[in-house]
Amino acid sequence: MSQNEFPIKRSFIEETFPVKEVSEESAREKNIRHGHISTLHIWWARRPLASSRATAYAALIPAPQSIEEAEKIKQFIADLSKWENSLNPTYIEKARDDIRKALGYTPRVLDPFAGGGAIPLEALRLGCETYASDYNPVAVLILKAVLEYPQKYGEKLVEDVRKWGEWVLEEARKEIGRFYPSDVVEQNGYFGESGEEYIPVGYIWARTIPCQNPSCSAEIPLMRQFWLAKKSNKKVTLYPYVEGKEVRFRIIGDGYEEMPKNFDPSKGTIKRAIATCLVCGSTVDANTTRKLFQEGKAGERMVAVVLHHPKKKGKFYRVADEKDMEVFRQAEEELNGKVEELRKKWGIEPVPDEPTPEGKGKGAERAFSVRNYGLNTWGDLFNSRQKLALITFVDKVREAYRKMVEEGYEEEYARGVVTYLALILSRCSDFESTLVRWFNHVENAGNTFARQALPMTWDYLELNLFSPVSQGTFKSMFEQAIKTVEFLTK
Ligand SMILES: C[S@@+](CC[C@H](N)C(=O)[O-])C[C@H]1O[C@@H](n2cnc3c(N)ncnc32)[C@H](O)[C@@H]1O
Ligand SMILES: [Zn+2]
Repeated sequence: MSQNEFPIKRSFIEETFPVKEVSEESAREKNIRHGHISTLHIWWARRPLASSRATAYAALIPAPQSIEEAEKIKQFIADLSKWENSLNPTYIEKARDDIRKALGYTPRVLDPFAGGGAIPLEALRLGCETYASDYNPVAVLILKAVLEYPQKYGEKLVEDVRKWGEWVLEEARKEIGRFYPSDVVEQNGYFGESGEEYIPVGYIWARTIPCQNPSCSAEIPLMRQFWLAKKSNKKVTLYPYVEGKEVRFRIIGDGYEEMPKNFDPSKGTIKRAIATCLVCGSTVDANTTRKLFQEGKAGERMVAVVLHHPKKKGKFYRVADEKDMEVFRQAEEELNGKVEELRKKWGIEPVPDEPTPEGKGKGAERAFSVRNYGLNTWGDLFNSRQKLALITFVDKVREAYRKMVEEGYEEEYARGVVTYLALILSRCSDFESTLVRWFNHVENAGNTFARQALPMTWDYLELNLFSPVSQGTFKSMFEQAIKTVEFLTK
C-alpha cells in the first residue's frame, strides 16, 4: 500500500465516539498535577490529553462493522483516555497494534498549530511519527520540552534537571536569600516561643493613594478586604485603626487578639476604584484614583508578613514593621547594582521594559486594567525585590548553562536541561508579581494569570521564592517539573 493513500475508507471517529466518557476524563484531568504537562508551563489553549489520545486513536482505526463491535471499541476508547492508563501497556500497546494493523504502516501525524503539545504528545504515545510546529516562540519552547528533549535524551534528563535546578536555587539563595530573613522570636508571643525561627512565605502589600480631602491628606492603604485566613476553622484578619493621621493595623482572630464586634473584614477601603479614607471618611472617585496612579502619586505599603514554621501546621501572621521595610530598601539598592551588572553581561535590559498589552475592543479596558493605573511596561508589574529575585534567578539559569558546557556537557544537551529550568522560572514569575493575590480561603499564593488578563490588584502578596511551602515557589515549581520530565521519559 502506498503511503500516500490512506487505507481506511471511513474511520471510527466518523461513525461514533464515546463523547460523554472522554469529556468526563478530559474535565477530570484539569485537577491532575503529578506529571501532567500543564505543570511544565502554562499554555492557554492546550487540549486535554484524554481527548487528544482518544480522538487520535479513533481517527486512525476503521469504522466498526457492527453495533456490538462499536460498543466494545467505545468502551476501550473510554478506558484508553484515562490519565491512569497513560503508561499502561495493556491499553497503549493494544492501541498501537490496532493502528499499525489497520494502516499497515506507521502513520505520520502533523500538528501545525501544536501550542501546548497535547495532540502531538498523544500521537507519539500511539506510535505515530509525529511533527509539531507553532508560530509562537513560547509554544515552540514548550514543544521542545514536551516532545523533543525527552525523546532524545531519556531518563538522564531527570537527573540533570534535578541537579542543576538545585544548583540554581542554592546559588540564588547565596546571593539574595538575605533579603528574606527569618523571624527569630525574641519573646513568647501570640505564636512562637523565644528562640523559634519562622520563615517568611511572603509579604502582603497595599497600594496607597493620598486622601484628596485637603484638610486630611492621609495615606489611604488600598485593600479590597482585610481577611488573612478565611477558613471554616480559622479566621484571621488585619484590623485597621487610626492613630493621629495614620492608619495602622493589628492582627486579630483565631490565635490572635479577639475579634472586635461590628467589624466586617470583607469591607475594604476600595471598591470599583472608589477609595475611602479611614482617617476622615471621605471618598476618592474612580477617575481621581486612576489619575493619581497615572501621575505617579500612588505608593505602596507593606502591611503584613506571612510566616511558616517547619514543624507547625498552617501559616502565621504579623504586622509588617520598619525592619521589614529596611530589608526591602536594601533589596531595592541591590537591584540597582544587579541591573547594571546584567545589562553589561547580557547586552539587553534585564528588567523587561516592553509595553503591556493595551487590548482592543470591548472588555479590553477591564482585561488589561493595569494600563489605567500607569503600569505600562512588563517591568512595572513587579516590585523591586521581586525584580531582583527574578533577574537573579535568570542569571543563575544562564550561569548553569555556561557551567555545564565548561564541565564538558554537550551544548545541545545543556540547552535542553536549562530549557526546563527556564520554564520553571517562568512559572515562578506567574506567582511573583504585584498582581498576585493572597488566597485567604486556602492561605496560599494566587497567580497573575488566573484569567487571561492583567487586572489591577490593590493589595497583593509578594512571595518569597525560597519559602519551603506555598504554591509558586522555585521548589514547588521545580518538583512539579521533575515529575513531568519523569513521566515524559518513562
Ligand atoms: C488551540 S491551540 C493548539 C492546541 C494544540 N493542538 C494542543 O495539542 O494542545 C492553537 C495554536 O495555534 C497557534 N497558531 C495560530 N496561528 C498560527 C499560524 N498561523 N501558524 C502557526 N501556529 C499558529 C497558536 O499559537 C496556538 O498555540
Ligand atoms: Zn482623609
